Amino acid sequence: MLPSIPFDQTAAYRKLKTHHKSISKKHLRELFAEDPRRFNKFSIRLGDILLDYSKNRINGRTRAYLVQLAEECQLGDAIEQMFTGEKINATENRAVLHTALRNRSNTPVLVDGKDIMPDVNEVLEKMKEFSTQVRSGAWKGYTGKKITDIVNVGIGGSDLGPVMVTEALKSYGKKGLNVHFVSNVDGTHIAEALKNLDPETTLFMIASKTFTTQETMANAHSARSWFLESAREAEHVKKHFVAISTNQEKVEEFGIDPANMFGFWDWVGGRYSLWSAIGLSIACFIGFQNFEQLLAGAYDMDNHFRHTKFERNMPVMLALLGIWYNNFFGAQTEAILPYDQYLHRFAAYFQQGDMESNGKYVGRDGQPVDYQTGPVIWGEPGTNGQHAFYQLIHQGTKLIPCDFIAPAISHNPLADHHKMLLSNFFAQTEALMNGKTAAEARAELEASEKSAEEVDFLTPFKVFEGNRPTNSILVKKITPRVLGSLIALYEHKIFVQGIIWNVFSFDQWGVELGKQLANKIYPELQNDWPISDHDSSTNGLINLYKNWR
Ligand code: F6P
Repeated sequence: MLPSIPFDQTAAYRKLKTHHKSISKKHLRELFAEDPRRFNKFSIRLGDILLDYSKNRINGRTRAYLVQLAEECQLGDAIEQMFTGEKINATENRAVLHTALRNRSNTPVLVDGKDIMPDVNEVLEKMKEFSTQVRSGAWKGYTGKKITDIVNVGIGGSDLGPVMVTEALKSYGKKGLNVHFVSNVDGTHIAEALKNLDPETTLFMIASKTFTTQETMANAHSARSWFLESAREAEHVKKHFVAISTNQEKVEEFGIDPANMFGFWDWVGGRYSLWSAIGLSIACFIGFQNFEQLLAGAYDMDNHFRHTKFERNMPVMLALLGIWYNNFFGAQTEAILPYDQYLHRFAAYFQQGDMESNGKYVGRDGQPVDYQTGPVIWGEPGTNGQHAFYQLIHQGTKLIPCDFIAPAISHNPLADHHKMLLSNFFAQTEALMNGKTAAEARAELEASEKSAEEVDFLTPFKVFEGNRPTNSILVKKITPRVLGSLIALYEHKIFVQGIIWNVFSFDQWGVELGKQLANKIYPELQNDWPISDHDSSTNGLINLYKNWR
């Protein structure tokens, strides 16, 4: 059981409050000038990943107090509780064991006294066999043709992970085997996805932990109708539909042969499930060996997280820095900015990972907290972001801590593209840190032969305050192993923050109310009678919709 510890009543919190008053007045430029060893002091290397967090508004004392905060919140115990299968998801009475899915050492992990590793390995073996058959063409469609297209039908955690990873590892994908993802209940999504597909060579993966999610079930039924329009015989469904779920009863009810079901367990949270059978589309696309590398990368990070002192611990430090800005500087958002086109869904993936986990106002004691918890997570790949929203990061009125992520080696070393990309990566964090003083702005304007009036007028607009904090995560190359580590890095960051903010990070009751109301309204849309039992706005909207449709 995780204890309830109000983090704002710890001694470390009070120290940080006082310390914030002085250090927040310091500019990053001064901090760097005071200490030439900042880069060495404030960076952590793990294999092919370097986290440089020196461009943050901290000094050694800040780090010591933040680490003390983690200790007072009993983070070490919480980490052990997670890895050893304690039911830390208390509101659902479940263990949280995505780490067991990538436990490459195979050491026993007990849930209710039973080792779960044999089950994990059995499903992995089944995924290996199946993905090998699909990739080799041994798995045939109902007319004897090999599979050319996989359509993963799922939403939230049953979609975002496979989408993000198959995009990130596209260069490892098998030629002639395409993956598609259908998530939105908007019929447009599935209609567009199926437009150019051939039912004889298309394989559907219906991915849903519960197998009751409205969007996924609606899309799964439409997929089956589309398939049967050509295949005619229900018998053929088993060659073209597999299920990934924890709910065998519902899978059978849908008509999928349990032999074609890939199971997982209630101790795998949806948004932490890409390591489970939910990753089947990934395994088929990049091959099982590469999927295992992904798991191995996550396992590297798991070991680092579990066994490294907090001040040298990447996820812990990332989390503590997030808390520093969120709770002491009042920052409300965090941007994730990958300088790698393949990582273009990375921020979207962690939007769910982070916001569904720590977007909670009720503490572990059941009482509302009186401090900010999870931030708004957003981001786009650089350099696109630079031409869209970086203006606000550089000169806006909001403090936006940013994570910059880039690989040193590109999968597509075209001419000088990668050097240009990386020059932007390095330049942005430098610019955000140093800014441009009024004297520098003025000198530049004077050098451009502007009149004295123009120089006076323009100078304030050309000033960059700087002092904008960034983390730089430089990796050697986006390989399956490195990606696995990167994902686990952010997963554990979220875990640490949830522990310190004293919330339960592994439930998501906040998505229920909208679902309940949609289920109430759905039958009301089945006829044309005017509605009057909601508030005037909802009635007005529904009635206009009924009029217009
Ligand atoms: O959005 C709520 C949620 O429960 C997510 O946590 C989950 O990833 C998603 O819905 C899909 O759920 P399922 O896999 O059960 O269809």
